[in-house]
Amino acid sequence: MSQSDIFEPFEQLITLRVLGRPLKVPERNSILRGFQFLDLEGISDGEFCWNGECLNCQVTIGSGGREKPVMACRTYAADGMEILKISDEIRRAAADLLGEYETTSE
Ligand code: FES
Repeated sequence: MSQSDIFEPFEQLITLRVLGRPLKVPERNSILRGFQFLDLEGISDGEFCWNGECLNCQVTIGSGGREKPVMACRTYAADGMEILKISDEIRRAAADLLGEYETTSE
């Protein structure tokens, strides 16, 4: 499977702040695709429906000083977006990527 089979076409990477750390992900793709871009094997093997039904991909984004839970598979990543909390399943699936952030999440 090539990148073009998985990701929507993109020309550049944008920066998310995930649990306070900057991570570069493809523009014009969902937050969950962004995590998949960074940890292809882990997220591809995770328990994700990719269509808004399982809720395993829930993340909390900071929005105008408030916290807003969204589904990462249904929400486009945006440059500078703050992700304050991530679901247990994302954390488990992308442990190689996010494990080091565990102690900084609270
Ligand atoms: S992956 Fe199932 S709701 Fe997002």
